[in-house]
Amino acid sequence: MKNPFIVGEKVYLRAVEMEDAQLLLHCNNQPEVRETFFIAFPSNTNRQELDIKNLYDRQDYIPFVICEKETGRDIGITAFHRVDLVSRAAVYSIRIADEKDWGKGFGGEVTRLMVAYGFEQLNLNRIQLVVSTENERGYRAYIKAGFIQEGLLRKAMYHYDHYSDFYIMSILREEYYKKKKSS
Ligand SMILES: CC(C)(COP(=O)(O)OP(=O)(O)OC[C@H]1O[C@@H](n2cnc3c(N)ncnc32)[C@H](O)[C@@H]1OP(=O)(O)O)[C@@H](O)C(=O)NCCC(=O)NCCS
Repeated sequence: MKNPFIVGEKVYLRAVEMEDAQLLLHCNNQPEVRETFFIAFPSNTNRQELDIKNLYDRQDYIPFVICEKETGRDIGITAFHRVDLVSRAAVYSIRIADEKDWGKGFGGEVTRLMVAYGFEQLNLNRIQLVVSTENERGYRAYIKAGFIQEGLLRKAMYHYDHYSDFYIMSILREEYYKKKKSS
């Protein structure tokens, strides 16, 4: 394992390095992946390298590269965004880069690892996310990790000729520990 930070069963999470620019570029440009984030504008290597350069100077954004343990392959990115140290809240995101790696349990495991990291190490009180109502795989991975659907953003994003509704989902600290105790 290369510089592991959080280690799970199938995956480990490590800090983002400059040489990860291509993985991030792929996630931001490759149609199948960027569509799930409703990204409508391209990104290039220069932009990506600039972003990576000062990545960990900020305390409100905590990104990781997701690596498959068995092969060491870099398979995606995950992060906490808008980490708010007063409200102890953060927004969670995940992207597995290659469609061939979807549905193999990676996303579910990463989500559970990030939720545990958020509550047990960052001392968060609330983790939230938004997911398109069309993204069944993501929705199910989040439910399994303990997220609750708490609202609906109507026609929140426009993509390919139609507007999509988004679920707002969250998990609170007390819910996380209740679930952990009962499992
Ligand atoms: C969404 C994403 C993170 C899910 O991770 P994943 O590794 O593909 O998902 P998992 O294999 O862990 O499966 C998650 C759940 O979806 C279910 N699932 C798998 N394939 C599915 C499919 N084709 N349709 C519906 N559900 C599916 C799994 O059974 C599992 O549910 P369960 O645990 O209740 O059985 C991943 O697919 C991804 O990165 N997609 C592109 C980017 C994206 O959509 N990011 C999220 C934006 S909010």
